[in-house]
Amino acid sequence: MTPEEIRLVRSSWSMIAERSDAFTARFYDHLFVIDAGAAQLFNGVDMTIQQWKLAQTLGVVVQALDDLDTLLPAVAALGRRHTRYGVLHHHFDSVGAALLQAFVDTLGQQFTPAVRAAWVRAYALVAAEMQKGLENAPPTLRIFNDRDAAG
Ligand code: HEM
Repeated sequence: MTPEEIRLVRSSWSMIAERSDAFTARFYDHLFVIDAGAAQLFNGVDMTIQQWKLAQTLGVVVQALDDLDTLLPAVAALGRRHTRYGVLHHHFDSVGAALLQAFVDTLGQQFTPAVRAAWVRAYALVAAEMQKGLENAPPTLRIFNDRDAAG
């Protein structure tokens, strides 16, 4: 990412930070409409806590965008953990779309085309690394997930 893109991501996130509860609530609302399969993965999850975890993580990602040597291994580990949650590659498209919609809801006109483009770059970077983590997950976990899905 360019320094300008990083600046745009950071300045827009700082506008969200004080209303991150509303932002993450909108995000999950959109996600659950866009992707019923993704919604099922959150059955029984305390969404207030989950919203907080997501906001914290996005905050850390935003801070670390100029330090990829630190950021990318942490993100890959996060991706590996997502294997256990039953997450599949295609879910990342739904999450990306829901994030953009939540930004529109929360920032309105301040979510300019340039800010949007910067977030698309940042999300693509993070999602690709998380997906590598999914790919690198030990095969046993995949088998476990398959059995789990079969009931
Ligand atoms: C940029 C992308 C994403 C970020 C930053 C993110 C972040 C997180 C974080 C921080 C957690 C808390 C647990 C942990 O740290 O291991 C979590 C859990 C979870 N995430 Fe994600 N996630 C992302 C993408 C996805 C996708 C694509 C899905 C699929 C729908 C998903 C579904 C879940 C589920 C089901 C849990 C477990 C909730 C629970 O059982 O408590 N996440 N995520």
